[in-house]
Amino acid sequence: MRHLISIEDLDREAIERIVAQAQRFAEVSDREIKKVPALRGRMVLNLFYEASTRTRSSFELAAKRLSADVVNFASSGSSVEKGESLKDTILTLSAHKPDAIVIRTPWAGAAELVSGWTSAAIVNAGDGKHEHPTQALLDVYTLTRRVGTLDGANIWIVGDVAHSRVARSNILAFQKMGAKVTVAGPPTLIPRGIEALGCEVRYRLDDLGEADVVYALRMQKERMTEAWVPSMREYATWYQINGRRLGSRQVLMHPGPVNRGIELSGEVVDSPQAVITAQVEAGVVVRMAVLYELLAGARAPEPADDREPMPA
Ligand code: CP
Repeated sequence: MRHLISIEDLDREAIERIVAQAQRFAEVSDREIKKVPALRGRMVLNLFYEASTRTRSSFELAAKRLSADVVNFASSGSSVEKGESLKDTILTLSAHKPDAIVIRTPWAGAAELVSGWTSAAIVNAGDGKHEHPTQALLDVYTLTRRVGTLDGANIWIVGDVAHSRVARSNILAFQKMGAKVTVAGPPTLIPRGIEALGCEVRYRLDDLGEADVVYALRMQKERMTEAWVPSMREYATWYQINGRRLGSRQVLMHPGPVNRGIELSGEVVDSPQAVITAQVEAGVVVRMAVLYELLAGARAPEPADDREPMPA
């Protein structure tokens, strides 16, 4: 694997390999010294053009636990504010010879574009509404630990599918792992033609009880340029996952950050069915596995020339 831009880059075998590697790294996270030398001498550049708490902190921790050197770059406070383009920023930062660039942007397709401008391995940490492949991998990891195999599992993804990169990556990843996926939400927030990805579509939650797993999505107000629902209160009335809608045997997931009281009620966020904190925890070990997969087998850095100089 050269880059991780889309879940389409991975087949089931590759997903299972990353999940198995993440399980091995979970043991490292339980140690007092949470570090292995697997990527010593490699450099990981985290390039974030968009807000992030979970993804950014877990990629940084993942790279550090593998002993890589880490450079964190946020667009605010950088020369991007003086008008430097994405391409010029990548060419500039590539002069530092990073082995991997982890990139989040609000622009669909940006990670793919960047892969053509640098020799570093590219990890898509979310590109607009397009994809968020490491979120899907950590969700597969979390669910596998909770329910065992995903073969035959019935997973409902509920809410703002239209603006969600997580929905697209997770529909693909869950199906590759053998699950049946249904997307549900108001018609304005379900993209036309999404059935082409192989999922079913529902516009009401009457049959939510069929689901083994309920995966709620955040209402992405920052990506809504017009009124997609009459009001957040109306949305919550029809689509909020709450104690009345969530069954006691169902697993509840959410990628975070959660809008408490909108897509999820506070009681279900704090319920034993919720694995939201486990998803965050999985982020570090799964991202360690992704960086390891991309870099450990790749070309080793040139050894430092520490020989004694020739005598004059
Ligand atoms: N799930 C997720 O991508 O969260 P952040 O935006 O906090 O990284």
